[in-house]
Order: sequence, then C-alpha cells, then structure tokens
Amino acid sequence: GTNTYDKMIEAHELLRQFYHHLLVNTNKGQEALEYLTRRNFTREMIDHFQIGYCLNEWDTSLKFLKSRGFSEELLEKAGLIIKSESNHQYFDRFRGRIIFPIFDMKGNTVAFSGRVMHKGEPKYLNSPETPIFHKGKTLYNFYQARSSIRKKQSLVIFEGFADCIAAYGAGVDNGIGAMGTALTEEHVHMIKRNAERVILCFDSDSAGQSATLKAGELLQKAGCTVQVAMIPEAKDPDEYILTHGSDAFINKVIGTSLTFMAFKMKYYQTGKNLKNEGDRLAYIEQVLGDIATMDNAIERDVYLRQLADEFSLSLDALKQQERQLYYMHK
Ligand code: CTP
Ligand code: MN
Ligand code: MN
Ligand code: MN
Ligand code: MN
Repeated sequence: GTNTYDKMIEAHELLRQFYHHLLVNTNKGQEALEYLTRRNFTREMIDHFQIGYCLNEWDTSLKFLKSRGFSEELLEKAGLIIKSESNHQYFDRFRGRIIFPIFDMKGNTVAFSGRVMHKGEPKYLNSPETPIFHKGKTLYNFYQARSSIRKKQSLVIFEGFADCIAAYGAGVDNGIGAMGTALTEEHVHMIKRNAERVILCFDSDSAGQSATLKAGELLQKAGCTVQVAMIPEAKDPDEYILTHGSDAFINKVIGTSLTFMAFKMKYYQTGKNLKNEGDRLAYIEQVLGDIATMDNAIERDVYLRQLADEFSLSLDALKQQERQLYYMHK
C-alpha cells in the first residue's frame, strides 16, 4: 500500500501540475500570466520553475484532490487545506496567488509558496512544516541546480524566489534561494557537500546585509570559500536585472564579487564616520578582530598592510594589537 508520506507527495505533484496548467492554459490564469510577463518571466522560466496559479476560490484544490481519493485529514496534515474555526469547514490554503512549487532533493514537490499579485498580506504565503517539508533542510532550486553546482563547484545564494528565477533567466544556472530565512547548519552541510565556493547575493537593504554577514560566517566556518556580490542601485537581484539587464548582472554584480573579508570591511563602515577618531578606532579594532581569526599568515599580512596604508598607521603597531587580540580569543 501507499503510505501517508507518499500520498502527501502525490497530492503536491497533482496540485503542481494543476496550478501550472491553470496559469499557462486557461483564461482564469491570464491575469497572473500578464503579471509574470510584466516582471520579465519568460515562458521558458515559467516552465522550468513550474510556476502556477491557484484560483481565487475557497475549495477548488480541495475538490480537485477529493475527487482523486485524498482524505481531508491527509490534506490538512499536508498543509494544503485549513479547517475554519467558525464553521469547521475545510478550505484551500492557497487562493488567488502565483504559485512557486518547492522540490525536495529527489525532485518531489513537497511545498508551495504563493505570492499575491497586488497588495496584500502576507506577500508570500508558505506551506507550514509538514512530514514532507522542513524549511530548515530545504533550499529553493537546489534539486534543479545541483548538477550545475557540482560541475562548477560553486553556487550563488539569493534571498528570494524572484531573484533565483530572474538570475536563471540571466544565465545563472547554479543559483539557489534561501526563501527569506537564515541559513541553518543543515543548509550549510547541503551546500558544503556540493560546492567549494559560495557567492552570497542577498538584497541590498540592511536585513539583507546582516543576513549576508551571518550566512558568510557559517559557511566560512564550514570550510567554504565565501564571496559576496553586492547589488548597487537596486533593492535586489531581480530588480537589478529588470532595470540593468542580464549582462550587467553577470559582469558588474556576479563578476565583481568581493572576498568575504572585503565585504566585512565595507559592512563595518556602515553607520560609522571614519573621519571621526572614535569611529575610526572602533572600525580598526573590528577589522583586527577578524584578521586575528585568520589561519593563514600571508592573508593576515595582506589585510594588516591594507589597514596600515588606508589609515597611515604603523604596521608594527597593528601587528602588535592583532597578536594581542589573537591570544585573547585563543
Ligand atoms: N518571504 C516569505 N514570506 C514573506 C515575505 C518574504 O516567505 N511574507 C520570503 C520569500 O521566499 C521571498 C524572500 O523571503 O522570496 C525574500 O523576501 P523579499 O525580499 O521581501 O521578497 P522578494 O523575493 O523580493 O519578492 P518580490 O520580488 O516578488 O517582491
Ligand atoms: Mn509546461
Ligand atoms: Mn528582502
Ligand atoms: Mn527582495
Ligand atoms: Mn524582489
């Protein structure tokens, strides 16, 4: 017999096909298709990521799956339907939204995220944790990008669905999405097992930048070579590609990725005025603290010299302070 786990996956597989069909083949999906077209999502991208649309109705998905023999109990546990508190009737979780299916490492559809087309909260509605979906162990597009990731021994991490998809359209076939959450140890292991080098390409706002710092530290600790692609003049990679084009994204964003250390040196400057003596000393101390954690003596020397040059400091004094921090934290 088929177990609950397989049944839940089967329900997700059927819905993924149904939602994709509604988007690309029906009149009711027309507005959603126009929305995606305005955002420069091509038919090839829509098919590749199996994007769909769920109708703005209460129980279309429920009826669709019940007629195929699925019980309400199973569908509720799978996160696809919700029981109303007032009348105890079941209704669809996803209604009137653009649907992004989420695959596990075997390529099974295990969850969905639905985006509103106009204003509305939440912007993205996600499947809950279920027996088949664990957010902390799932990375968007990892299954599809895996062979390219392994071949290149590198991957690019984005914050969102749209970034990952737009980057794919721009030629980045080794991109994955963190789906707005902080990277977990499990995520880091998945990444480390498949690639040596990681490029972080998060949103340019302060949330994106502090997420970059946290993710970079975790990945570096796991032994990955970390780089950071910063997004100038746009809020995220998707918006950058929309306004500046694919070539600019590849050459000026991905192509000019910073080392993680160079990123941190920029990051530590935010909110500081380096002409102010207190801020300057605090900044130098932060950078020295990072240098003190480096295993490689040559690398330490490079950054110490850079600091000495930048602030006209004596290299000896910097070295002395760096060693002091090193022994303090040992
Ligand atoms: N996210 C989420 N729930 C929300 C908002 C965001 O799960 N209410 C996740 C989504 O995976 C989203 C990612 O966090 O893709 C990044 O969020 P954000 O930058 O706000 O959205 P974008 O990806 O830029 O979405 P869009 O371009 O469609 O506005
Ligand atoms: Mn198709
Ligand atoms: Mn964001
Ligand atoms: Mn964004
Ligand atoms: Mn965006």
